[in-house]
Amino acid sequence: MNFSNKLISWYLQNNRDLPWRKTKNPYFVWLSEIMLQQTRVAQGMSYYLKFTETFPTIFDLAKADESTILKMWQGLGYYSRARNLHFTAKHIVSEFNGEFPSTYATIIKLKGIGDYTASAIASICFDEPTAVVDGNVYRVLSRYFGIDTPINSSKGIKEFKELAQTLLDENQSGTYNQAIMDFGAIQCKPKKPLCMFCPFNESCVAYQKNKIDVLPVKEKK
Ligand code: ADE
Repeated sequence: MNFSNKLISWYLQNNRDLPWRKTKNPYFVWLSEIMLQQTRVAQGMSYYLKFTETFPTIFDLAKADESTILKMWQGLGYYSRARNLHFTAKHIVSEFNGEFPSTYATIIKLKGIGDYTASAIASICFDEPTAVVDGNVYRVLSRYFGIDTPINSSKGIKEFKELAQTLLDENQSGTYNQAIMDFGAIQCKPKKPLCMFCPFNESCVAYQKNKIDVLPVKEKK
């Protein structure tokens, strides 16, 4: 089995049962991905449930008062995320009749959406084979392949994005992307990863060379 097949089979047995995984509605997936930036899944959950209940469609979010949205955002921090959410909801309603753009190229043009979020939405909702790279992905790939290029250097950003794209299972890109993020969050954790029970330990360069604690490398700026 290659890396992607093995990862997906791990995921089928270990994935987290998360509410935004029960839908391919890009509005819900967008909300969840924005909330989960710089926020743990356990903390983001109640906000996701509250937002989707109060604003069940993008039209509801677009017509809400900014002050209501900011108040509901309290505790999540980084308030520019909430302001951009509101701005982009209004934009999608006024420019596209409320229909969420459906390709990576059009999604990434939206305010508050970068490479990670555009890749996540395009793959999860529209099956476009675009690989996500977040902190989990940097950790898993740097360890498994023994890559010590700093993840915060322009060389590293490019190298890891290309590798992630090569590994992506193009027929199930949304599943693959969520599998590698869950694998990083649950198994290949930053501290005390569960290497003893890891399906990849025999071929993991960092594990074999005792470099788990030094990868990924981050350069001091
Ligand atoms: N962290 C942020 N988004 C995620 C997702 N869709 N799956 C797993 N972890 C995530």
